[in-house]
Amino acid sequence: MVKTGHFERMARYYDTATKILMLGTYGKVRDRIVAAPNVERALDLCCGTGYVTGHINADRVVALDLSPGMLAVNREKNRGKGHISYLVGDAFDLPLPEGSFDAVYNTLAAHEFRRIERILKEAYRVLKPGGTLVLYDFSYPDNVLLRYTYLPFLRHVVELGTFHVYDEAGWRKILKDAGFKDVKAETLYRASILIRARK
Ligand SMILES: C[S@@+](CC[C@H](N)C(=O)[O-])C[C@H]1O[C@@H](n2cnc3c(N)ncnc32)[C@H](O)[C@@H]1O
Repeated sequence: MVKTGHFERMARYYDTATKILMLGTYGKVRDRIVAAPNVERALDLCCGTGYVTGHINADRVVALDLSPGMLAVNREKNRGKGHISYLVGDAFDLPLPEGSFDAVYNTLAAHEFRRIERILKEAYRVLKPGGTLVLYDFSYPDNVLLRYTYLPFLRHVVELGTFHVYDEAGWRKILKDAGFKDVKAETLYRASILIRARK
């Protein structure tokens, strides 16, 4: 379980902190994450303040998070975008029917969870057959300098020791176990990974 009280407290500062931590890649990475053809229904799972919510190419977007504070910032940021609906909910037990989304997005959140595979099983359940999971998170830096500076900084200073990251092989195993196929992974800016996989 993740410290949601922490997100309640930092909701208003979250975007600024994330922009700093992403070392200037914030907008460019987001463009890559949302670069996909339009779909009918998408879920932004653990959407937070909406790094990608308002940018997802879909007719309808459900933005789900356990923290009402994070959702409030997201809603305010996307005011006027009537195709987005907001839902307080637990990613481990989604209050959503099976096979109801063409795409599920999960960005910058996986490192928070010790049992990410349980969340991915839920993502799999709510996807339509052939639907796409888009997952983006920090990863093992492929650069030795970053691996021994940036990674420990994120793990011990920013996340206070709770920081679960995987390399591409690790992700492929987790996704396969959750049932996903056609996994495509790319390293972005040496220290993060963007994955697309299909149900
Ligand atoms: C690091 S933030 C990432 C937010 C956003 N996706 C982004 O890209 O900036 C992680 C989010 O996961 C949410 N969260 C934590 N545990 C959750 C759970 N069990 N179910 C749903 N959301 C959860 C937190 O409230 C927080 O908004």
